[in-house]
Amino acid sequence: MTDLAAYQARINDRLAEALRIEAVPDKLREAMAYAVLGGGKRVRPCLVYLAAEAAGAPLECADATACAVEMIHAYSLVHDDLPSMDDDQLRRGQPTCHIQFDEATAILVGDALQARAFELLATDSQLTGDQRLAIIQRIARAAGPTGMVAGQVIDLASEQIEIPANTLIDMHHRKTGALITASVVCGGLCANADETVLNALSEYGYALGLAFQVQDDILDESGDTERLGKQAGADRHRRKSTFVSVYGLEAATEELERLRERAVTALAPLGDAASYLAGIADFVASRDH
Ligand code: IPE
Ligand code: IPE
Ligand code: MG
Ligand code: MG
Ligand code: MG
Repeated sequence: MTDLAAYQARINDRLAEALRIEAVPDKLREAMAYAVLGGGKRVRPCLVYLAAEAAGAPLECADATACAVEMIHAYSLVHDDLPSMDDDQLRRGQPTCHIQFDEATAILVGDALQARAFELLATDSQLTGDQRLAIIQRIARAAGPTGMVAGQVIDLASEQIEIPANTLIDMHHRKTGALITASVVCGGLCANADETVLNALSEYGYALGLAFQVQDDILDESGDTERLGKQAGADRHRRKSTFVSVYGLEAATEELERLRERAVTALAPLGDAASYLAGIADFVASRDH
């Protein structure tokens, strides 16, 4: 399996640097750092780095994009945990942002992280203007009202009701898959990858993103709160529509394996250069946190 430690260390340094801004009010700076730097697997920035490397770019070219996707992800978690959304108390092994600070601060942390992410992308001197524009467009679409936010809306509307399988899959592709796919594709854009490589990365990201949320649903049902760093059983408690509630645990596990295979198969055009990305698919399918 791919060893992510070096990539995780790199992104942690870059994120700390990107959040060290003097003019930010103390409480906001502290809360932003709390939400971003206090843990997390860093799967999305690692995908940016690995896709960029697989397509032939040095890691410097991928730093801003890696930071941006993790900031957007961290913002989405802070808002996802709010009382008006999933109402969760534990995240990354710590009290959620609105518990540690207060609800208004948590809302503003999300707002600030999203804007800071796009500022980093717009001002990245490692990339050309065309690359920056393409990456900004791709990430904005993934995070926006037809992507992640749409997925969250469908998720909230699907509590306490039974939804058809195609709605469930659409919800997962949007709320989680879109940003994961964008992370992989934008890694390719950092390397100026050609159409064939970008299509392969997109196909891989699409399968991987769905697999990631299927495993998240499985872990909510059968994982361990301490290991997860978030409350296990929260979906059942809120009567969420998940892969497990709609298909059952066994079918969800089988689907996860099919998606892992589909993700790995999609990497064929990249040859050996994509072996680390294939390793991430194994990690996503077998992770316990
Ligand atoms: C959790 O994401 C929320 C989902 C989109 C499934 P992660 O499992 O990547 O959370 P962290 O970043 O490691 O905390
Ligand atoms: C979160 O999905 C998706 C986003 C944050 C966009 P979940 O609600 O399943 O994530 P967890 O389980 O709280 O981490
Ligand atoms: Mg949620
Ligand atoms: Mg949640
Ligand atoms: Mg979940």
